[in-house]
Amino acid sequence: MIKGVNSAPTKASLSSKRAPLKGADKLEKYPLEVSVLNPNQNQSLNEASSANSHITVLLDEAVHALAIKPDGIYVDGTFGRGGHSRKILAQLGDAGCLIAFDRDLSAIEAGKAIDDPRFSLVHSHFAAMQVKLSEMGILKVDGILLDLGISSPQIDEASRGFSFRYDAPLDMRMDQSSGQTAAEFLGRTSEQQLTEVIKNYGEERFAKSITRAIIKERNDGRAITTTGHLAQIVASVVTRFEPGQNPATRTFQALRIFVNQELEELSLTMPQCLALLAPHGRLAVISFHSLEDRMVKQFIRDQENRDDLPANFPVRAADLPQPKLKSVGKAIKPGAREVKLNPRSRSAVLRVAERTSVV
Ligand SMILES: C[S@@+](CC[C@H](N)C(=O)[O-])C[C@H]1O[C@@H](n2cnc3c(N)ncnc32)[C@H](O)[C@@H]1O
Repeated sequence: MIKGVNSAPTKASLSSKRAPLKGADKLEKYPLEVSVLNPNQNQSLNEASSANSHITVLLDEAVHALAIKPDGIYVDGTFGRGGHSRKILAQLGDAGCLIAFDRDLSAIEAGKAIDDPRFSLVHSHFAAMQVKLSEMGILKVDGILLDLGISSPQIDEASRGFSFRYDAPLDMRMDQSSGQTAAEFLGRTSEQQLTEVIKNYGEERFAKSITRAIIKERNDGRAITTTGHLAQIVASVVTRFEPGQNPATRTFQALRIFVNQELEELSLTMPQCLALLAPHGRLAVISFHSLEDRMVKQFIRDQENRDDLPANFPVRAADLPQPKLKSVGKAIKPGAREVKLNPRSRSAVLRVAERTSVV
């Protein structure tokens, strides 16, 4: 527990004259780029779009959703640059505390700037949340926030290999201290597995052609180790994509989700949140693409409607399984002002649920 590069962009053949997709073909606005920190939410549009700015998405809404009790115990599962964490700390009293997690060492480094005895920052993936908290003697908490996806510094730092805007090593790991890079994965995956990854995680209709082109490149002795090389290969076979989007957007999304096991992380963590939340404790999750949002929505719905017995099943209402979660309000999306200030927020969806007292 820890307390409290940028290289020049290349054109990398990323432009395309091919036909954009329309209507139902649209991926739900994947923001290859997400957001991070702005404690005051006062940045101008110019500042917000500069390489070093980090704007937290749905800052007020997410922290408000946690209904902070001054003496409560809170968890920020995705510290990033600490925008949400700082606001939570500002609402806590002396007896409250916040435990934040991030799997990215540069986020942990940035968190060292917060010198506050009520704050702890843990370098870990959030799927280890329950274990890590119990090691700290914490079995119940009053609120948990997950602001999923990647942060602006991760996207904007070329060497992280998340973005097709730069030609850089194809890494894509949020935690660069462990796991395989996207380049390593492309070097050893099978055609079938790669097609499934690109199709399922990128919702990419050209998954098969992209895979074939990647495998051919590999078989011809040209290992794909840079973002530019991958973007080039994808652009050579993708003939239709959303207006204004890069043809490699979906493929990059798919590889990122796979390399970081993002959906597995989420599905392992939501039941832990349920177990950790004290009665009336709040869970707030911000998703950035439909795959995640669907999982969050379904999880809350399943915990709300525990009655999955057939109609007319002979059981008394009092004996039916009782809901463990109650959703709070509707899904919240950033308003026009926030999207204008921070275009990376455009696909964010916040869902909030409250723990009931059912054990
Ligand atoms: C969208 S940013 C969070 C921004 C943050 N709310 C802020 O205001 O600065 C997501 C952060 O979560 C981290 N992250 C994503 N998935 C994670 C996981 N499974 N475990 C731990 N950290 C994760 C990323 O490394 C990134 O720093």
